[in-house]
Amino acid sequence: EMLEKGGYDHFMLKEIYEQPRSVKDCLRGRIYPEQGLVQLGGIKEYTEKLKNLDRIIIVACGTSWHAGLVGEYLIEEYARIPVEVEYASEFRYRNPIISEKDLVIAISQSGETADTMAAIEMAKEKGATIFGVCNVVGASIPRTSHAGVYTHAGPEIGVASTKAFTAQVTVLTLIALYMAQQRGKISTSAMTSLLTELDHIPEKIQEALSSDSYIKEIAAKFKDSRNCLFLGRGSGFPVALEGALKLKEISYIHAEGYPAAEMKHGPIALIDEEMPVVFIATRNSSYEKVISNIQEVKARKGKVIAIVTEGDTEVRQMADYCIEIPASDEAFLPLLATIPLQLLSYHIAVMRGCNVDQPRNLAKSVTVE
Ligand code: G6P
Repeated sequence: EMLEKGGYDHFMLKEIYEQPRSVKDCLRGRIYPEQGLVQLGGIKEYTEKLKNLDRIIIVACGTSWHAGLVGEYLIEEYARIPVEVEYASEFRYRNPIISEKDLVIAISQSGETADTMAAIEMAKEKGATIFGVCNVVGASIPRTSHAGVYTHAGPEIGVASTKAFTAQVTVLTLIALYMAQQRGKISTSAMTSLLTELDHIPEKIQEALSSDSYIKEIAAKFKDSRNCLFLGRGSGFPVALEGALKLKEISYIHAEGYPAAEMKHGPIALIDEEMPVVFIATRNSSYEKVISNIQEVKARKGKVIAIVTEGDTEVRQMADYCIEIPASDEAFLPLLATIPLQLLSYHIAVMRGCNVDQPRNLAKSVTVE
């Protein structure tokens, strides 16, 4: 087993460190920065369909659902198609309104999650087109889908999803840009600049990983916390949700992810000098707003851990700890900001003596409802 872990103490850590490679594998043969082109062989037969869509419904569970929320943000931003993101378990038991002009995207690492599978079977029966975004080739969900895009992250052993999540986000980014291209919503020059940057994301993930030892020091300070809040805005919000899920899954610390502006409608009541609050505070369109949210937490003596863009000075004056990630286009923020949160959860869980690869009560794949 030590051999399988490639010298790492846990599969989870190995998989966190594999991300520069897994994201690169996911991009291979799909992006052509010089031509400003995205090619997705798995869905190219549905190009005409993409031009006449009323809306997209994303169905998923768990971490895959968080990837779906990032997808919503990107597809609406670039392809300008309305997107709804649904928990598969809720969607399947409603009487949802679905037509032939809907596209359903099912996101699933395993491709076997029972609720996600049932949701697409129902949508398919009602005439929707189904795309699968899965990691396991030939699994039930990709077989039931009309078309799809594999994430190619390689086998994920750790129950808490890490590299599968970043690969899902990568695929959804590609789908958003592909749809924008097919629907004529983006210029070739804008595509070229985005794809050139996307091509560098694997190296930037590598750079983000270099904060590991500093993150371990932060983990030592917060390992005995009983609660933790994760806050972000825009696409930083799903990143916050995923950060909170990771922490609760493997360390059993109660954690909540929230849109930063919603804090004042509830979670702010929890803040005292004991409360760690993790902010996604990178320099992007919501930067100034996030800064005021950080001030609200500091005014109540909360402990702030901020994920910031390298070279940041403003947040540094307020936050107790700042973890830097490389600067990038806002579109790719989730791919970079997720990395330190995975490491933070990992180290806290290890320090608490938890079984990080097989947390209690959780299964890698939930094939019963
Ligand atoms: C389980 C796993 C999670 C995963 C979720 C959905 O709860 O522990 O890591 O996100 O199922 O699984 P899927 O295979 O459909 O992505």
